[in-house]
Amino acid sequence: MTSSISLKSAAKINLYLEITGNRPDGYHELVMVLQTIDLCDRLDLRTISSDAIHISCDNDRVPTDETNLAFKAARLMQQNYPGLGGVEIAIAKQVPMGAGLAGGSGNAAAVLVGLDRLWDLGLTQSELCDLAAQLGSDIPFCVAGGTALAIGRGEVLSPLPDLQNLALAICKPRDLSISTVWAYQTFRSQGLLATSPVREQHNSSQMLAAIAARDETTPTRVGRLLYNDLERVVLPAHPRIATLKAFLQQQECLGVLMSGSGSTVFAIAQDLGQAERIAASLQADADNSDLDIWVTTSLIGGVLDV
Ligand code: C5P
Repeated sequence: MTSSISLKSAAKINLYLEITGNRPDGYHELVMVLQTIDLCDRLDLRTISSDAIHISCDNDRVPTDETNLAFKAARLMQQNYPGLGGVEIAIAKQVPMGAGLAGGSGNAAAVLVGLDRLWDLGLTQSELCDLAAQLGSDIPFCVAGGTALAIGRGEVLSPLPDLQNLALAICKPRDLSISTVWAYQTFRSQGLLATSPVREQHNSSQMLAAIAARDETTPTRVGRLLYNDLERVVLPAHPRIATLKAFLQQQECLGVLMSGSGSTVFAIAQDLGQAERIAASLQADADNSDLDIWVTTSLIGGVLDV
């Protein structure tokens, strides 16, 4: 049995997030289009003979106890495959927390994939995704990555043609994190489902058709069709995110959207050069000194070898 492995877990953005129903279990029925991006954490996993699970992280704001999703993933694997020992997990963080980028979910996905390999379990992607769904709605997507349609709670996945080489400028107010639970609960309590602005010319079918086209029109069409229902609660409550979105919309890029429940906002640029220019203009504005900024691209895959 191999005793150590190093993996990368990719962040994701939501290109489309529509809330289509309230579920009796408190969750929401969703239609999402998800995309992994080339902004990754690194996880070094090492097996140990005792049953212990140890987490360390280079960012001291990340909890290293049983509340960390990576810890929960390791414990779920131990419960399902007992007697194989424990694991030390060292996380090097690039993906910000509370950002709507599924950083913690990606780490959990990497632990599932890593322990499957370290323990020689030979699990299929579908078996890994079933385990992932027990930990969180977007963790199955983080296992597979790429471009995907996610429905149900977000755990029912259909792969889509890869959106290759999308050029992205991404930014997040450093000290502003949004609670996903708060965002969904507020959406529900405000009764926003009944007043959906999703219309004939702007819906998930249009987005899926744009991605399926796989031609030079795809990025432009995807940019125009970006949509996120959670903006309807997060933007009014957090004007900083609304001003950030407005700033990016002035940059003549293909489209701008908040990812997940925020606070990250991304712009799809025409090419990497324009993404760099957008990042530079964000940086140049004194009002934006609170931002972390990245220029990156779409990525094929969710958990990758280092
Ligand atoms: O599944 P996960 O634990 O990642 O979800 C975090 C929170 O987001 C849930 O507790 C719930 O409040 C909200 N959520 C939801 N509907 C979904 C997914 C998440 O209401 N489909």
